[in-house]
Amino acid sequence: MLIKSRNASDVLSSEITPKSVFEKRRSFLKTAAFAGAGIAAGALPTLPAYAARTPLSGVQKSKWSAESLPENDPITDYEDVTSYNNFYEFGTGKRDPKENAQEFKVTPWEISVEGACMKPGKISFEDLIKPETLEERVYRLRCVEAWSMVVPWVGVSLASVLKKFEPTSDAKYVAFETLFDPERMPGQRQPVLKWPYKEGLRIHEAMHPLSILGVGMYGEVMPNQNGAPVRLVMPWKYGFKSIKSIVKIKFQKTIPPTSWNDAAAREYGFYSNVNPAVRHPRWSQDSERRIGEIFKRKTLMFNGYAEEVASLYEGMDMRKWF
Ligand code: MTE
Repeated sequence: MLIKSRNASDVLSSEITPKSVFEKRRSFLKTAAFAGAGIAAGALPTLPAYAARTPLSGVQKSKWSAESLPENDPITDYEDVTSYNNFYEFGTGKRDPKENAQEFKVTPWEISVEGACMKPGKISFEDLIKPETLEERVYRLRCVEAWSMVVPWVGVSLASVLKKFEPTSDAKYVAFETLFDPERMPGQRQPVLKWPYKEGLRIHEAMHPLSILGVGMYGEVMPNQNGAPVRLVMPWKYGFKSIKSIVKIKFQKTIPPTSWNDAAAREYGFYSNVNPAVRHPRWSQDSERRIGEIFKRKTLMFNGYAEEVASLYEGMDMRKWF
């Protein structure tokens, strides 16, 4: 992944905010978000679905709650999660997406689902945010660049969405594509990647209970810079697998091309499971820094989700299939 050296504007807000203010703001944001999430279960927000900071209603708690994480694994500050991003459609700097994505209009939004399935069709954002399907999942996400975060995502099970389209036995893989619209996504005017951004999963990975389509975070709709309106969240894989602003999902027999593998095959494999034992050719992957924290932590195999996902890769040489 192309890495920009950190400059003054890349200083994290938690690094410049006194700790007491930072903690107070964090607890205020949490209360506000969850109060919002609890209102009028069953009703959709009356604001246009994508005004910034709109609460999502009817969000169910899941077994992946904040309490399920170890004590030393606190939820990352909202400010940090929303102001330190990779979203090359809005610039290659970590501060660019927040600055450049604010005008990005995401309503109406549809995802077309096609390929090896009995019922190809479309799914709209409104279909996805039916209150009975929305869950809060507090997941860690670990970027290949060795930073990580803990986020209360709001999402729907990817398997539950995919099954509606009745994939056939030819559906060995699932391919995902981001919107291609250089007018609305100015970063696409530069050839930094082959647009549109593409990702792919093996069908068993896509159908795994941990895999979600994220539609929000902190009880609210997804901020534009974090991949509005719909993105993948694959907690045991490096962050770049979690493709943002998805418009197309395709079931297919063959392994899908993926953007970072296309850009640098030696550095980014198809699987991209978090694995502290396998170095990125240019740096170690055995530790990481939570955004907003000073000290590094050890990176865990499958980002700490080994118990749930290791069986997906039984018998595979993880060095070869990195
Ligand atoms: N999706 C698209 N369409 N474009 C991107 O540039 N960057 C990826 C991933 N999804 C990216 C993307 C990378 S490298 C990471 S680390 C995560 O998004 C970052 O997600 P975040 O902004 O919520 O931290």
